[in-house]
Amino acid sequence: MANKPKGSAAPSGRKLAVRVKTAKSRELSSTLWLERQLNDPYVTEAKKLGYRSRAAFKLAQLDDKHRLLKPGMRIVDLGAAPGGWTQVAIERTKALTSGARIVALDILPFDPLPPADVLHLDFLDPTAPAVLKQALNGEADLVMSDMAAPTTGHRETDHIRIIALAETAYEFAAEVLAPGGAFIAKVFQGGSEKDLLLRLKQDFTTVRHVKPPASRAGSAEVYVVAQGFKKPRVA
Ligand SMILES: C[S@@+](CC[C@H](N)C(=O)[O-])C[C@H]1O[C@@H](n2cnc3c(N)ncnc32)[C@H](O)[C@@H]1O
Repeated sequence: MANKPKGSAAPSGRKLAVRVKTAKSRELSSTLWLERQLNDPYVTEAKKLGYRSRAAFKLAQLDDKHRLLKPGMRIVDLGAAPGGWTQVAIERTKALTSGARIVALDILPFDPLPPADVLHLDFLDPTAPAVLKQALNGEADLVMSDMAAPTTGHRETDHIRIIALAETAYEFAAEVLAPGGAFIAKVFQGGSEKDLLLRLKQDFTTVRHVKPPASRAGSAEVYVVAQGFKKPRVA
């Protein structure tokens, strides 16, 4: 298991150190991706601390700022593979000893992360809410979604798909969240998540857009963080 992320602070910056030559068999985009990975301090730090993804730092940073994770909590982690957020949730809720309950779901299979329950399922499958509720066996204190469909390169299409995932995540969250609960979802900056925001502002005490330092500066990714769920649970 990973150590506690001192990593929520930005790892010390490194100058671009590794350049990758474009091989015949490798597209330029793959070469640039590889170069970015090799020079990304969060990738290095994640490896060092035993996190399965650099995304772990995003949740750690969101938690540092907004105090989302507490021992004993019940959490649903949507779009969890390969498990970075789940690892941080396990650590910060002290799930091994506190009785915290973490249900992690992804359309892609990923290795178990006990004591979290890992579900291999498409969240958009009509059976997913029932399967999740059964695994959760009660209310949730936090529903978090880092779900993102593979990008198409077409900004508007990507945006629409990511917002659809966030909206569906909130449909589910509104059914299972306990009063006072929280919801986090990945969205895109400057987009059309107006309906979702309107609903969140009605249902929560505070709603913020947050870009954690570990979220790449060049990406439009941002997280909506809603805290203090007000609405009575839908039966
Ligand atoms: C950015 S990654 C998540 C990284 C993860 N939070 C971590 O810390 O390692 C986005 C994930 O969303 C998942 N995803 C996208 N669409 C999904 C769907 N319909 N149902 C379940 N998972 C989905 C992808 O398979 C991918 O693993």
